[in-house]
Amino acid sequence: MAILEVRDLTRRFGGLVAVSNLSLSVEEGEIRGLIGPNGAGKTTTFNVISGFYPPSEGRVLFRGEDVAGMSTNAIAARGLVRTFQATTLFQELTVLENVLVGRHLKARTGPFRALLGADRPREEAARARAIEILDFFGLGDRREDPGLSLPHGLQRALGVAVAFAAEPKLLLLDEPFTGMNPEETRRMMEIVRKVRDRGITILLVEHDMQAVMGLCDRITVLNFGRLLAEGTPGEVRRHPDVIEAYLGAAASAA
Ligand SMILES: Nc1ncnc2c1ncn2[C@@H]1O[C@H](COP(=O)(O)OP(=O)(O)O)[C@@H](O)[C@H]1O
Ligand SMILES: [Mg+2]
Repeated sequence: MAILEVRDLTRRFGGLVAVSNLSLSVEEGEIRGLIGPNGAGKTTTFNVISGFYPPSEGRVLFRGEDVAGMSTNAIAARGLVRTFQATTLFQELTVLENVLVGRHLKARTGPFRALLGADRPREEAARARAIEILDFFGLGDRREDPGLSLPHGLQRALGVAVAFAAEPKLLLLDEPFTGMNPEETRRMMEIVRKVRDRGITILLVEHDMQAVMGLCDRITVLNFGRLLAEGTPGEVRRHPDVIEAYLGAAASAA
């Protein structure tokens, strides 16, 4: 069953067509890659799917419901949660508090109620759950540290933990491997697999080809906002149009 279906999606910015007539369907339980050269429209696709921008045209069906144009909160509450290309931790908060904020996204207990202590048992349950999540992500021993004191790789892992805390059914990850050393990459790949094994479907935008090829069940390739190819990692890697798009991009960047 498709958990996400994007149909004929177009997003324009003035005269620029960032995403053009894109259709794709993500199956429940898969890790799907979304790749393509810089400017191909990957982040814009994420922004529309997760409600940051309305589409110019087209539909976004999440578990059969058209969510295109809904607010990010409404979409997240339905179980579609994304992370950002840049690390976006809450700067003054500890590791544990960051995860608690992620949970609030789902639980909808405003910070006001928390301040008033109106909901003590619920707060304690949330804290216990946040500690479990940090253990699951291998961050348990850092929970009282300021989020920003973590090394880069762990900050990225915490970003995923915050999104995970909102209890997504579909998690959109925008370049989670950026700037990681090989050991951090290996650990993040383990995390992504573990999250999927919890029954969460994953749509992954990533430049690190080793991570993409190693993790994804299927890969969708964009170029100039359009669907270029789709298939297993092996099929995509051998696809002449994909080779051309990447070699062309590399050649023009050189
Ligand atoms: N908010 C925006 N306003 C204007 N142009 C944008 C905006 N967001 C993205 N674009 C443009 O849309 C195109 C696709 O960008 P993006 O989706 O970020 O690509 P990718 O993530 O694949 O690198 C680029 O040409 C980019 O400059
Ligand atoms: Mg991008």
